Order: sequence, then structure tokens, then C-alpha cells
Amino acid sequence: MIHFVTVGILVMVVAILTYFGATSVGLMPVQASAQAVPIDWMWNWQVIAISFLFALIVVPIFYSIFVFRRKKGDTSDAEHIEGNTPLEIAWTVIPLIIVVTFAYMGAYSLGESRRITDPEAMIVKVTARQFSWTYEYPDGFVSTELHLPVWKQVILKMEAVDVIHSFWVPEFRVKQDVVPGRVTEYRITPNLVGSYKVRCAELCGSNHAFMEGPVVVSTQADYDQWVAEQIEIASANTPEGRGKKLITENGCVGCHSVTAQPGPSAPSWFNLFGEEVHLADGSTITADEAYITESVLDPAAKEVEGYAPTIMKPFTFTQEQIADIIAYIKSLK
Ligand code: CUA
Repeated sequence: MIHFVTVGILVMVVAILTYFGATSVGLMPVQASAQAVPIDWMWNWQVIAISFLFALIVVPIFYSIFVFRRKKGDTSDAEHIEGNTPLEIAWTVIPLIIVVTFAYMGAYSLGESRRITDPEAMIVKVTARQFSWTYEYPDGFVSTELHLPVWKQVILKMEAVDVIHSFWVPEFRVKQDVVPGRVTEYRITPNLVGSYKVRCAELCGSNHAFMEGPVVVSTQADYDQWVAEQIEIASANTPEGRGKKLITENGCVGCHSVTAQPGPSAPSWFNLFGEEVHLADGSTITADEAYITESVLDPAAKEVEGYAPTIMKPFTFTQEQIADIIAYIKSLK
């Protein structure tokens, strides 16, 4: 009996220590949406259950190893035990009750996260493609960044143009697949101002790991200012403006970069025009109109040194559209 009491106390102590250890190492990123609250509630109960089960297994093992060690010179066999019906019933029924309870709690927290609905929610259209995210706002412009005002519900209506992707912002907790040929919905109420990242959570090809984009949650005033800037850029009907719109809508900046930072998986366009480009075959070429036009229409024709052969699919743009894109690239200095 003394063994049961000792093991029981040790199990509780180890379970509590495991729980506090597991929750103090920052397993989860910050909680940045109203939908995250019921999910984190569920997660916390999971950690409690995991800590208890861990202690329930580990403590008796180590207790037995040290306390019931064979004495020196003892060569007798261990006691033979022929079943124990009450024990078998107990270890079947108790886990069954726990599993069913957790199934109910899981369904309940999933339901709670979906019950947070606002009929006034803002709708943003999302296009996922290999390997970028683009957003079409109700105000009529397109962006590669998802900006959201804090405490305002948004419904993302998501479509994929090629293969299955998955929209996942860890801080929001909720995740949703984006499937070609159907529109999937993602409803979220951001509740913490900050900069986050959307990641693709479905293996979608060679550059899946780089399929991320900025998600910015800001105050209503900052959001309104950003929207006003975007509308101004979109309505400026210059070749550079049209070019920027084209590369945004077609997801080019998912791989290419427009700053001095190299792109995740394709050459940067910053300071590109007129410069010497080193090709994979060892030769160099000047980045002029002809080179850029060819690279858009037939990306395999000239492979840039250091980049994987043709992740990019050929694009079909008109000559006018390509001229606009080149005008935009020229402006990147
Ligand atoms: Cu898109 Cu992985």
C-alpha cells in the first residue's frame, strides 16, 4: 500500500512539474485573434492531459527500477500473476471516458471558434499560387500584403489557381486549405496589433517553404491610411503603376524581390535594368528590354546563376504589358 501512495504522490508532483515546464518554454506564438481563445483553451487541457500521462508512465517505470531491484544473489523467478479483471475494466473504462470527454471538448472549441461571427465582416479575396499570396480588397486594389484593422472581422474568400495550398498564420491559430476549383472561407478577428506572417501549410512544390507573405494588423487609423495609399498607387495610370499592378496580380513578387534583398527563390529586380547578369552557363548578358521580355515569356531560355532551373512557368503577357513591367523594373533603384 505504501508503494501505491508514494507512486501516486510522485505522479502528481511530476505531472505538475511537467505541466509548468511545458508551458514556460513558449510553445505557442502570441495569441492574435479572437478565434485563438477557444483553441488555446483546448490546447491547455491537452498539455494538462499529456503531462499527467507522461508522469503516469515514467514515474512507475523509474520507481520499479530503483525500489524493486533484484537483490544480490536472488536467482528466483518473479511471481506469476494470472490476470486481474477489476484492473482491466478500470484501464479500459477510464481512458474511454477521457477520450470521449476530449472529443467533446475538441468539437466544442472548434464550434466556439466558428461562432464568433460578425455580419459586417470585411471580405478580402485571396489567390494562392505557386508560390505567392495575393489579396484583392473591397476598395478595388490588389496587394501582396494582408493588412487588417484590429478588432474587425475579416472573411478571406480563398482560391488556388494551380495546386492545393493552405493559409496559416500561427498567431491566429486557425488554418484553412485553399483548393483549386472551389472557394474556401477563413474567418478571423485579429485582436492584437503586430506584424505576422502567413505561411503555406500544404506541400505545394519546390518552393513551398518560401511561400510566405506579410500579415499586418494595425489600428483602424493606420489601416485607413494604408488603404488610401494603395488606392492612390492603383489609380495612378502610369506605365510603372500598371507594371506594378501586373506583377502584384500575377504573384511575381512571391519569388522575385523588388528591394536590395535577394528574392526567396528568384533574382531581385532592384537595380537590375542595364546591369550585367551572370548566367548559369558562365556567360554574362546585359539586362535590357530584349532579355527581360524573353525571360518573362520563356524563363528557361536564360538561367541566372545560382537559381534553380525553371521553377517559373512561362507567362503570357502582351507586348504593352511587358513594356509596363519593364518600366516598373526600371523604376526600381
Ligand atoms: Cu503553397 Cu505550400
